[in-house]
Amino acid sequence: MLKGKSIGLRARHEDDIPVLRAELYDDVVNGSRAEAGPWRPITPGSNDPRLVVTDENQKEQVVPFSVVELDSGALVGSATLWGIDNHNRCAHIGLGLLPSCRGKGYGTDVVETLCYYGFTVRGMQRLQIETLADNTAMLRAAERNGFVREGVLRSSAWVLGEFVDEVLLGLLAEEWKPGSKG
Ligand SMILES: CC(C)(COP(=O)(O)OP(=O)(O)OC[C@H]1O[C@@H](n2cnc3c(N)ncnc32)[C@H](O)[C@@H]1OP(=O)(O)O)[C@@H](O)C(=O)NCCC(=O)NCCS
Repeated sequence: MLKGKSIGLRARHEDDIPVLRAELYDDVVNGSRAEAGPWRPITPGSNDPRLVVTDENQKEQVVPFSVVELDSGALVGSATLWGIDNHNRCAHIGLGLLPSCRGKGYGTDVVETLCYYGFTVRGMQRLQIETLADNTAMLRAAERNGFVREGVLRSSAWVLGEFVDEVLLGLLAEEWKPGSKG
């Protein structure tokens, strides 16, 4: 397990799946805001790659984690290093916490722990985050870890009836300061 200050990132377990499906992916608003595509219901028992990690769908370019509280071991969300490009040594970060676990500092801790995985374990040179321009919590969690806003993708996301801007943030290995949140 990768350990942050208050959270751990571990492999996906079978009994995480119904919780993540019910609390993150069945929620139309959360799903529409967090996914690049349209919200769709996930059938229980299906092998949806957002939830179920199999030898077939666990590709080299994607590393999915379940996020747990270190103290209790309770599941608090999902986190992913995705789009891993070993030639250009860059990758993307994604995360989603269960609604009751937001606003407690876990998101900031997850970003820091994914940075450790991306930069130190995987040798990446650049990590990137894309998020909706009104997602203050995600923007802050990224910026607290040193990510800088590199651009705005105007009206790039169709979200529940309107086009919304996305912010692109990046962090380079030489800029990353482990453990010192600005
Ligand atoms: C985005 C998300 C991962 C952030 O994690 P979190 O644990 O809620 O965030 P933290 O508690 O670490 O807070 C980070 C910062 O945002 C602020 N913040 C937290 N919730 C906020 C809210 N609802 N509105 C405004 N600011 C908020 C905190 O005060 C903190 O600011 P600071 O660094 O200035 O003190 C989490 O809220 C989440 O899972 N949201 C739904 C899914 C999602 O949007 N995923 C990202 C898709 S790109």
